[in-house]
Amino acid sequence: MRNDIAVNPIAGACGAEIDGVDLSQPMDDGTFQTVERALLDHQVIFFRNQTLTPEQQKAFGRRFGELRVSDQYQPIDGHPEILEIVKEPDATGIVGNLWHCDESFMERPALGSILYMIECPDYGGDTMFANQYAAYEALSPSMQEMLSSLRAVYSDGTLGQRNKGRSMKVHRDADKRPSYEAVHPVVRTHPQTGRKCLFVHRPYTIRFDGMTEAESAPLLEYLYAHASRPEFTCRFRWDVGSVAFWDNRCAQHYALNDYTGVRRYGHRITIVGDVPH
Ligand code: SIN
Repeated sequence: MRNDIAVNPIAGACGAEIDGVDLSQPMDDGTFQTVERALLDHQVIFFRNQTLTPEQQKAFGRRFGELRVSDQYQPIDGHPEILEIVKEPDATGIVGNLWHCDESFMERPALGSILYMIECPDYGGDTMFANQYAAYEALSPSMQEMLSSLRAVYSDGTLGQRNKGRSMKVHRDADKRPSYEAVHPVVRTHPQTGRKCLFVHRPYTIRFDGMTEAESAPLLEYLYAHASRPEFTCRFRWDVGSVAFWDNRCAQHYALNDYTGVRRYGHRITIVGDVPH
């Protein structure tokens, strides 16, 4: 661990800014341990004033695990692991404008995602994050117990519909494959902290396993609203050169679509996680 690296929380619930790390450089073990500890303690971490080539961003991500090659969106040339998160000045929609975690429809959902901002508006286009340990822990013991016995079905089947009005380039093979679908526990245990957290996401969780969508909807609606209560959240204001690294196992995020006429453009990589338990 490095005690010359500052980890400054930005809110009571989650989120910390890290000072004193240049992500473009190979990361020694002490720096890696400090950064990983901060991620586990704060669910999402932020770095400012970074300049990263695609290779450097991927090298940072690979310290944490295997990178996903997405077949949902078209990656940048020569780097199939890097997605362009983009809203052009004339676009109306954006990706991520619903509370969600990345890829919970996969058998091995994302461990984390790392977004490097290259162009952004002077104001607007913030991203919010919500701590899902806090969401779970705020439920009554009886609700916690009931949810602990439930599993849910997650799918990316509505992606085509949600892509309308977005600038994101859909992967050229996206409509050649069936939708992804996976079944996961509604309350998962984080593989590194051992803490329990809520794991349901509006765009992807379609029903409880063994129940119909209609039967599932009322409780899912309650959980979606509960999971994003303001006191579980933090909000990050981007600058060019900012990097956010969120832990998809225990945090949800929400990209705000509150700006227009300005380009917002970043590179995102996604680290493959474990099968949830
Ligand atoms: C996302 O990965 O969901 C988008 C995040 C953002 O654009 O801030």
